[in-house]
Amino acid sequence: MIRSAICGVGAALPERVVTNAELEKIVETSDEWIVQRTGIRQRYIAGERDTTVSLGAQAARRALDNAELSIKDIDCIILATSTADHTFPSSATEIQRALGMTLGFAFDIQAVCSGFVFALATADFYLRCKMAKRALVIGSETFSRILNWKDRTTCILFGDGAGAVVLEAIKGKGVIQDRGILASKLRSDGRHIEKLYVDGGPSTTQTTGHLRMEGPEVFKHAVAMITDVVNSCFNIAGIGPEKLDWFIPHQANKRIIDASAHKLGIIDKKVVITIGEHGNTSAASIPLALAVAVKDGRLKKGDLIMLEAMGGGFTWGAVLLRW
Ligand code: UT7
Repeated sequence: MIRSAICGVGAALPERVVTNAELEKIVETSDEWIVQRTGIRQRYIAGERDTTVSLGAQAARRALDNAELSIKDIDCIILATSTADHTFPSSATEIQRALGMTLGFAFDIQAVCSGFVFALATADFYLRCKMAKRALVIGSETFSRILNWKDRTTCILFGDGAGAVVLEAIKGKGVIQDRGILASKLRSDGRHIEKLYVDGGPSTTQTTGHLRMEGPEVFKHAVAMITDVVNSCFNIAGIGPEKLDWFIPHQANKRIIDASAHKLGIIDKKVVITIGEHGNTSAASIPLALAVAVKDGRLKKGDLIMLEAMGGGFTWGAVLLRW
């Protein structure tokens, strides 16, 4: 059978680092509150010239280099983002142009913070259906552009950045020892829209709008939703958490990550945490965390990895894969 395996990872972050101390000058907050409640110490904020497309293209180039491949080897680009450069065309086609890719197809996926998991699961199906052989799956965001910088309950949480992976169709035996994606589970429930949304859009206000969130309400649902899809992946694969080498969650809040890992029975040292440095970069947070864990040598060939995310909509999902 065909499996989709990650063969390259890349990341791109804006130059400018904004610490909690700097935010203390903008809104009534403190480094102590932000660290205690979220685990965030700093975030990267896009400069004037950075956009979702420029960061996404940079991460994609680095993923191609890491895979020792060129853009000619790619026949599909899926970009997960909620902060597209334009209302249309898709930022994926703008990245396609930036990379010089003229074959294949490219499109955006909008599932907010769960976007990368949705994009990865989607690319996996394209590869397994033989509609593509190698896909660039990118998460790229410039949330700083949709934040209300006067709202201390949201502006301290988010950061900008991009991460990308090259996903390649390989031969598998249909067993748990195979490399590549072994299970995935996607969910959404639109009843929760008002708890986390942006109050603008082309068809309503004709403006971009600003992010609004009932933080504690999102928090309340997060752990149950995350553990539900992660356990679904364990069940599909017929394994338990003890087999896992790495848990790489969406980085929204360290307390959510810790509580989810604890409920799932995953020990601390198997959890990759980057929220302290990156903040919440929405669809970019998982590939950015993957890139960190690859660079520091934590991920080894054959390792079993669980990715998961939860975000606006609500949307939530998990992917189990072998490195
Ligand atoms: O990635 C997409 C999914 N998003 C999430 O998963 C985010 C989920 N939610 C959260 O992570 C948390 O709810 C937050 C980090 C947003 C907030 O933490 P919390 O522990 O739920 O705090 P809270 O909203 O209940 O606020 C506690 C207190 C309030 O003051 P009072 O009413 O107790 O006097 C807030 O007004 O903290 C106050 N507060 C702040 N204080 C200092 C809220 N924001 C801040 C702030 N600095 N930035």
